[in-house]
Amino acid sequence: MDADNDVQMSLEEFTMIRDFIHEKSGIFFAENKMYLVKNRLIKRMSDLGIKSVRDYFYHVKYDVSLKEFNQLMNLVTTNETSFFRNEPQLLSFSDEVLPLLIKEKNQKSGSKTLKLWSAGCSSGEEPYTLAIILLEKIALMSGWDIEILANDISENVLQKARQGEYTGITLRNVKPNLLARYFTKAGETYRINPEVKALVKFIHMNLNETRRMAMINNIDVIFFRNVMIYFSDEVKKQIIRGFYNTLNGGGYLYIGHSETLHGLSKAFKLVYFKNALVYHKEAAEIETVGERTVGTRVTVDKSGAAGGASRAMDLLSKIKPMTVGK
Ligand SMILES: C[S@@+](CC[C@H](N)C(=O)[O-])C[C@H]1O[C@@H](n2cnc3c(N)ncnc32)[C@H](O)[C@@H]1O
Repeated sequence: MDADNDVQMSLEEFTMIRDFIHEKSGIFFAENKMYLVKNRLIKRMSDLGIKSVRDYFYHVKYDVSLKEFNQLMNLVTTNETSFFRNEPQLLSFSDEVLPLLIKEKNQKSGSKTLKLWSAGCSSGEEPYTLAIILLEKIALMSGWDIEILANDISENVLQKARQGEYTGITLRNVKPNLLARYFTKAGETYRINPEVKALVKFIHMNLNETRRMAMINNIDVIFFRNVMIYFSDEVKKQIIRGFYNTLNGGGYLYIGHSETLHGLSKAFKLVYFKNALVYHKEAAEIETVGERTVGTRVTVDKSGAAGGASRAMDLLSKIKPMTVGK
């Protein structure tokens, strides 16, 4: 039976489900995506024996367990990714941003903790790539506590990420020496080695939930690449504001190489590195008179968001960091 023949979707029904998806996840489908949305829903509706989009809408909306919402997110997200995606950005991280961060931490705070966040990590290729980059910098990173937080709204991709097994095209940019060092081959499958896996903590988290976002702090570098293209501008602004608060002063934000914060935020400074452009949260300036510290000036987001002083809880503090090279 062809499920498509059974399901009809009026503009009104499309608007209902579209607005619901937008309100909950931030993902926005314009009217010209009506058939794409319908095509992604029909198999699920047919499995549930639901014939109208209106009925499916109520089924999702009133499922307090959020099970159906999570299923819906598996269907409507676009999860395209690959290892070592956009090499220039990764080079700017490994050869320019990372040495700078390490130098500044050594000079200023003496803290040997580095926290990265892959926001919208899909099936894990981005955070595992970051872990491999850091492991390759063992001489620089020896004795450092490293955490790579990775979140996604789709449980399906997170399951794949936790599994850490890959085949085919996603591996095309992994150099043969790195493939040999950080993966174990079993038939056609490459399994991520435990030392890479141990650096990454996967969490199921919706970036459109401001309260959960506010639980994360002390991040040094955020990778938010190829995610915000799916959001409306108002959601982009809110998430970028959240990231600003989440980052340490002196931290960095990577977005997709064809994406921009223009019109979304003026809080970050755009830094022109040799390999890529990166957004930077300037460090708080400490004014000293003689030996006495008299004040701290923190860059404040134009939208009124200040640094994360009032965090209720540090989600990351629950996660035990891994120490490299010990
Ligand atoms: C195209 S992938 C990008 C993956 C990776 N960052 C990269 O550049 O290769 C976008 C990911 O963002 C996730 N995503 C979309 N909306 C989200 C939300 N509200 N919260 C968390 N993740 C979301 C999707 O599920 C998808 O896996």
